[in-house]
Amino acid sequence: MKDLAGEFRSRKAAGRKIAALTAYDYPTARLVDESGIDLILVGDSLGMVVLGYPDTTSVTLDDMIRHTAAVARGTKHAVVVSDLPIDTYRSAEEAVASARRLIEAGAQAVKLEGGAIVAPQIEALVSAGIPVLAHIGMLPQHIREEGGYKVKGRTPEEAEAIRRDASAVQGAGAFAVVMEIIIPGLAAEIAPALQIPTIGIGSGEGCDGQILVLHDLIGLYPWFKPKFAKQRADTASAINGAVRDYVAAVHGDTGMTPP
Ligand code: KIV
Repeated sequence: MKDLAGEFRSRKAAGRKIAALTAYDYPTARLVDESGIDLILVGDSLGMVVLGYPDTTSVTLDDMIRHTAAVARGTKHAVVVSDLPIDTYRSAEEAVASARRLIEAGAQAVKLEGGAIVAPQIEALVSAGIPVLAHIGMLPQHIREEGGYKVKGRTPEEAEAIRRDASAVQGAGAFAVVMEIIIPGLAAEIAPALQIPTIGIGSGEGCDGQILVLHDLIGLYPWFKPKFAKQRADTASAINGAVRDYVAAVHGDTGMTPP
């Protein structure tokens, strides 16, 4: 297995930012990989943008295994990280058993949500030789308790808890940490205080890298658009247009020759 911890720390020390995106299937993974991405996350966000659930809490380990295998088949260069879904890492033993299945499916590392509270799981995974990407700030697997996607770190208590979480996941051996919708000033303060890279989503430019859900970047999930995600293509309109043309051609509405 690659020394991801060493690689990511050197990358940060050299000031090289990390560009990361999610992908969930063979063609998107292959396209994203061929376009030079550094890290592909098989995110449990697939629950929403691929499987049509309202949030990530219905995603199972079997869902993640199937999609991880497809992404791994399409990826030659990027680091493939796969999410441990909810209720698959309630103890250190469970985390290692679940993560092994994702590694067998082709992931090179796993991601799990939480800070100091999951430090024992991170330590156990790293001791078992499984690299870990941590995830702090807004935790989508807890969206039901939290009542929505809320910016984190606004109060001094919340900011202090995030600082503690960042230091705990680094101490437990994570090779990098995702910081989700943390107020940009706090994210910019934490990044230089850590040796491991911070990969931000909706947390401003002061992180050591950025990650987005692919569907937000390419406009493939037009029914929900996070404010922080800059859409750089309109794939939904391209699909609508092509399908409308095809339907009109087959129905004989346009005089176009059907395929
Ligand atoms: O599941 C996911 O896509 C994620 C990213 C939002 C970081 O966890």
